[in-house]
Parts: sequence; C-alpha cells; structure tokens
Amino acid sequence: MSQLAFDESTGKHLEALYQIGDAVCRREIARTALAARRGERILDVGCGPGFFCAELLEEVGEDGRITGLDASRQMLALATRRCAGQENVAFQKADATSLPVEDASFDAALCVQVLEYVSDYPKALVELHRAVRPGGRVLVWDSDWATVSWHSADPYRMQRLLAAWDEHLAHPSLPRTLAPAMRSAGLDRIHAIAHTFAATAWDPDTFGVSLIPLIADFAPGHNGLSKADAEEWAAEQRKLGERGEFFFTYTQFCFTARRPG
Ligand SMILES: C[S@@+](CC[C@H](N)C(=O)[O-])C[C@H]1O[C@@H](n2cnc3c(N)ncnc32)[C@H](O)[C@@H]1O
Repeated sequence: MSQLAFDESTGKHLEALYQIGDAVCRREIARTALAARRGERILDVGCGPGFFCAELLEEVGEDGRITGLDASRQMLALATRRCAGQENVAFQKADATSLPVEDASFDAALCVQVLEYVSDYPKALVELHRAVRPGGRVLVWDSDWATVSWHSADPYRMQRLLAAWDEHLAHPSLPRTLAPAMRSAGLDRIHAIAHTFAATAWDPDTFGVSLIPLIADFAPGHNGLSKADAEEWAAEQRKLGERGEFFFTYTQFCFTARRPG
C-alpha cells in the first residue's frame, strides 16, 4: 500500500501538529543538539513546513544561511510562507538521495523525521556526509514506531491500527539500523539519545492526542481496516480521554555525528 503523501491535506495536519507542546519541545532538543552558531550555513533536508528553518534563522543571524530542501512542493510552499521576508534562506525541491548542493558547502545538516520515509536511506546519509564540510555536524532524528504503547479496551483493534500506520512510511523502526548506516556513510562520533513522549490525559499539546486525526485519516484501506474501524478507534480514544484513562508513549531518537576532518 502507498505511504503517506505529503500533500495539502497532510500539510494542514503537520501545520497544526508542529505547533503543539511536544513538537516545540522536540525542536528545542534537536536545536540544542545541533548547536548552530552565528554565521553558520545550515542545511535542512526534508524541511517540511519550515519550522526548523524559521527557528534556525534566529540562531545563525544575518551572516548565516539556511537552505531547506524537500521532495514535496506543498511542504515547500508552507516553508516559504513561514520564512517570508527573510533574505538568507532558500528553499528548493529535491530528493534526500540526490541533493542539489556543492560538496562540503555547509557547516551542519539536519534531517528530522525524514529518513524513515526514504527507501534508500543509506544513500541519503552519504549525501548528508557529502554536503557538510570536514568537521561539520549531522543530526538525524527518527522514530521507532514499535515503541508505541497505547491503551485501548480493544487491544486487537489497537494492534491492527498501529500495523496499518506502519504502512505510512518505509522504515517503521529505522533507529535500530541508523548507527551502522551512518558509519558506512563515512560519519564518525555517532551518538544517539532516546526521547520518550508520554500522555496520560486528553491533552492536545501531546503527540498522542494530536496524532489521532492523522492516523484515522490514513488507516482506512491499510491492513484491512475500514473507515468505520478507524472512526470507532478514534471515538474510543476520545472516550478514554473523557474518563481520564488516556495513555500513550512513543520513543524518538536523536542521532548526532560528524564528518571526520
Ligand atoms: C514528518 S515531515 C518532517 C518535516 C520536518 N523535518 C520537521 O521535522 O519539521 C517529513 C518531511 O520529509 C519530506 N520527505 C519525505 N521523503 C523525502 C525524500 N525522499 N526527499 C526529500 N524529502 C522527503 C516530506 O515531504 C516531509 O516534508
């Protein structure tokens, strides 16, 4: 079955999802790990709606430069709008496996929740290594969707829903194989930190609650699920929330590395 399309409808979901507390917290953690400095040239591969680009512009200042690349023109339109009026940012349509950039032309690159959608992710890692200068930093952030623990009174349906959601991307458990792939791409000083996001209440600021509409939209037609199955699951989650019984956890991984030199 087809993966999630990064079209206008997904763009609307992501615009909302990336403004919630958990997403803001994730960006803070990633930006701290990337440690951008004033005047640096930063590459954001799979920039999506451009939240990182807008925030990194503040960090690199007027002398720095941000380049955002994405395979989706709808995402690039959102990113361009988000960074409107800024001169030192450029966006371009590109695939992560073939970057339209000069060798060693960036001080650092980030690629947040993108490689899990890219079939040939080892090639994308080689491109990230090529794009940064010797000594430059690379940050890759991905999720292991098998770490999701999600309460339901119907565990069988919950399991079917999560298996359907696994079809929305190419590699549902990418972090497990990222470190050796980064090493093979030529990167060193590889370091991973796991970050778990938890929700124990119906809080729209959490990934748990905010992911429900996205999953309910995607699931019908995947893993044998119907629209009614997805709607009943979403309704059950809301009821659990109303009763104070909502529970969700999910672990994401921040990998940092360096191009030797
Ligand atoms: C989950 S979003 C993450 C967006 C952004 N990195 C963030 O964290 O705010 C994934 C993004 O990766 C992009 N993407 C997926 N496959 C890609 C590929 N092969 N090359 C470039 N971008 C890709 C999508 O269009 C989408 O914008």
